[in-house]
Amino acid sequence: MGAQTSVALPPDAFSEHPTDALVIGCGIIGASIAWRLAGRGLTVRCLDPEPGGGATFAAAGMLAAVAESTFGEHDLMRLNVESAGLWPGFAAELESETGHPTGYRRTGTLTAAFDSDDRRQLRRVLALQRQWGLNAVEIDATEARRMEPSLGPRVAGAVWAADDHEADPRAVHAALMAGLSRRDVELVPRRAVALLTEHTERVTGVLDDRGRPHRATTVILAAGWGSKAVASGRLLAATGDGPGDAAVLGPPGLDVPTRPVKGQVVRLDARHEPSFRLHHVLRGIVQSRPVYAVPRENGEIVVGATSEEQPDDRMITAGGLFALLRDARALIPGLDELPVIDTTARARPGSPDNVPLIGDSGVPGLLLATGHYRNGILLAPLTAAAVADRCLHGAFPDTVSPADPARFADTHRSMAAS
Ligand code: GLY
Repeated sequence: MGAQTSVALPPDAFSEHPTDALVIGCGIIGASIAWRLAGRGLTVRCLDPEPGGGATFAAAGMLAAVAESTFGEHDLMRLNVESAGLWPGFAAELESETGHPTGYRRTGTLTAAFDSDDRRQLRRVLALQRQWGLNAVEIDATEARRMEPSLGPRVAGAVWAADDHEADPRAVHAALMAGLSRRDVELVPRRAVALLTEHTERVTGVLDDRGRPHRATTVILAAGWGSKAVASGRLLAATGDGPGDAAVLGPPGLDVPTRPVKGQVVRLDARHEPSFRLHHVLRGIVQSRPVYAVPRENGEIVVGATSEEQPDDRMITAGGLFALLRDARALIPGLDELPVIDTTARARPGSPDNVPLIGDSGVPGLLLATGHYRNGILLAPLTAAAVADRCLHGAFPDTVSPADPARFADTHRSMAAS
């Protein structure tokens, strides 16, 4: 570990009461954690300049523990299946507490193959999913079209995952915000720029972008792909050697390996097109490319999503939009007729192995709940429950052990040393 940096703070900087927990980031993961912790009686503060405006804003809300399971992702599948089982209770509790809908619907998911090569690919993944004990079955094109009459003539076959449902991420987030307010969680609309250690071996709080410190017994880093920058302190605009009242920033050398993976989605409006209806979440493989269309109860259809190793520039590209619509209409020709509501581009929080980081950071006082990549909505209930267990009972449950950040500890030590 390198030398720590210190920053001068005004004498009254720590005048506010420390909270039991401070959550950095108030997307669906941070908000779910804060809601759970406050529900267990902890005092909680959340820092986010744009709550729910990141990956949550673009997410389609597929709770696809089965349909997204693929080669090399057995650990992720275990987490996903566990969290899918928590979703009905999570949605019911949130809805009854706040009176807000979550859009949780038991739709099932149909994955259609466009041509015979795509069907071969689908069958290969299906064999793996069944080997893992997942509830997925092959159906032929006629049966697929019976279940989903909007499917076009070019469908070579399909897989039905009866247990993969959906929620509406923007609605869930709005419900969580209402829940945070009911549970007296303080939401500070500022960006966290660095962690504080104050001459100790632990993280004692966070510095925001106005230079204001927030102390807490436990800090939870849930800032999505931006978690890496917060942990490294490189968002801090001006640092210097402070006088006696300096707050020491750190811990230096802490590497939280998140990165942005851009996705573009388009929302279509089927509300005024009575002849067009999607009954299930529809996924597809079109000449090896994945695509999906998620119908909302209110008649919107979310078509997604590109997966690009790009920064979070929030730009829709002509090529990205073209590819999405080309592949979606190849399976569902009726999409052609639907008005476009809007387009959204946001980055998902990627991790090196596509499995999130949920666990102790290795530095006392700091927990990680980030890197949820393609499964942030699905994994929110499990992540929140696991962090609550850790804060109240001192240990993360075994169910999230595949997500333990310690799996990267050696890599990062050697990277820091080189
Ligand atoms: N889970 C869907 C996506 O990330 O696009």
